[in-house]
Amino acid sequence: MATRKKIALIGAGNIGGELANLVVSKQLGDVVLFDIPAKENFAKGKALDLEQNSAIHGFDASILGTSKWSDCAGADVLIVTAGIPRKPGQSRDDLIATNLPIIRDVADNAKAHCPNAFVIVISNPLDAMVYEFKRRTDFPKERVVGMAGVLDSGRFQLFLARAAGVSVKDVRATVLGGHGDDMVPVLSATTINGLPVSQLVPAETIAGIIDRTRKGGGEIVGLMGTSAFYAPASSAIAMAEAYLLDQKRLLPCAAFLTGEYGYSDMYMGVPVVIGGKGVERIVQVVLSPEEKTMLDKSAKSVQSIVDVVKKN
Ligand SMILES: NC(=O)c1ccc[n+]([C@@H]2O[C@H](COP(=O)([O-])OP(=O)(O)OC[C@H]3O[C@@H](n4cnc5c(N)ncnc54)[C@H](O)[C@@H]3O)[C@@H](O)[C@H]2O)c1
Repeated sequence: MATRKKIALIGAGNIGGELANLVVSKQLGDVVLFDIPAKENFAKGKALDLEQNSAIHGFDASILGTSKWSDCAGADVLIVTAGIPRKPGQSRDDLIATNLPIIRDVADNAKAHCPNAFVIVISNPLDAMVYEFKRRTDFPKERVVGMAGVLDSGRFQLFLARAAGVSVKDVRATVLGGHGDDMVPVLSATTINGLPVSQLVPAETIAGIIDRTRKGGGEIVGLMGTSAFYAPASSAIAMAEAYLLDQKRLLPCAAFLTGEYGYSDMYMGVPVVIGGKGVERIVQVVLSPEEKTMLDKSAKSVQSIVDVVKKN
């Protein structure tokens, strides 16, 4: 008998709620919306609200709010947003002291209850959190990935589309490196339906857009007092969908590196193919010397925060 896939969302906050909404509206599977015992009723309430919404839209998937890990048992996909988001003035790295014990707790429970899940980590500081999740669980690198590049690329694409006066559908761009202020928009591969972006948008405008993209998360934190959640959730769902539907999408994701681009034993944003086997391959492309220098700088920042994780 065919059954629906089970998608466990760890953290029932802003991103968790939007993830649940997208999973059921895209009919990807049944949802378990998990949070800590102190937030159990909050998770249950959000789940109930979303289930009632699905009745109006006519979606059949169920959403269970819970604080019991046993309810997550056997999940096919686990998406982790557990932890605190940034407040105005904070960097992602400022979250490490609070979010490190949280990701360890989540990793231990995921290992015990969801040993076969494809795991997408969203919690910040992203590259360090996904590294620690993989280290703690010892899950295969194909099954643990971090979400940042899809979001950062989406922000870059939107700003370019607005500047060029074209549809966002026609802008293709990839942002690599760590999910920090020195992320690397790959300008040499950025096109508007195959046409070089440099011929449609002036260089100084592009420079401003790169700067805005790098600070894109902070801009929203400054406006809302908390992190973005709609676009982050959509980005993770694109990755989950690629896995569940074996789409073989080429997406920029934080993947575990074992020598690719010259880096090892770290997670950082690179182009990967996601399909039914998880991270099926890391695609290595030739970067311009300037881009490679930027990637090296970004890798150094990621390494410094990973070193903090390893020492604690
Ligand atoms: N990777 C990215 O691109 C990206 C983008 C935006 C936000 N983020 C990060 O995602 C995380 C979540 O953001 P949010 O806006 O949803 O925050 P939120 O505060 O709305 O929700 C986080 C939830 O995690 C829960 N939680 C805490 N400890 C937990 C534990 N041990 N187990 C399960 N749940 C636990 C909290 O109770 C809370 O409900 C933050 O760290 C934020 O910085 C990442």
